[in-house]
Amino acid sequence: MKALLLYSTTDGQTRAIASYIANSLQGSLACDVVDLQQAGSVKLADYTVVAIGASIRYGHFNPVLDKFVKQHTDELNRLPTAFYGVNLTARKPEKRTPQTNPYVRKFLLASPWRPTVSAVFAGALRYPRYRWLDKVMIRFIMRMTGGETDTSKEVEYTDWNEVGRFAQEIARIAGKQ
Ligand SMILES: Cc1cc2nc3c(=O)[nH]c(=O)nc-3n(C[C@H](O)[C@H](O)[C@H](O)COP(=O)(O)O)c2cc1C
Repeated sequence: MKALLLYSTTDGQTRAIASYIANSLQGSLACDVVDLQQAGSVKLADYTVVAIGASIRYGHFNPVLDKFVKQHTDELNRLPTAFYGVNLTARKPEKRTPQTNPYVRKFLLASPWRPTVSAVFAGALRYPRYRWLDKVMIRFIMRMTGGETDTSKEVEYTDWNEVGRFAQEIARIAGKQ
């Protein structure tokens, strides 16, 4: 019995979330944590449960997400599966459910994949690590939406307890709880 935890990340937060889920599942499910960019040769049939996490950049998930889903729609829809989106809009609790987060809602409505369970997690804001233009753009968005505008700051909004609870959901749909 094994879980496949796929992630699509640019700055590492979604990978950190996938690793946290893997650690939370220790003892109930063995996990392979794999970058979606490198998932070309994975065999979904080897797994009891598959989770995919992906972050948002300028309003979009990485196209690798849609590509993977398109290639594996039938298998994904046969298995117990989980999807979660990671973004900064979700730092506001009222935008942190699959129904109220615009990116996750849009993805779920349009996707041929029907995940068994879905979630949204707030990501991280790490100004000092961004390139100049990204820093300017993100600061502008933060100013418009009442967020942090001090570009010397790094803020992690991810609620790790929520991630831990989602890991238990994954164990549950895999039949391990
Ligand atoms: C260049 C850039 C663009 C972003 N665009 C959005 C956006 O359009 N909407 C949003 O809610 N969050 C946006 N974010 C926030 C990211 O989704 C957040 O930082 C997340 O933690 C990134 O996850 P990752 O490190 O796994 O890529 C953006 C972040 C960066 C750096």
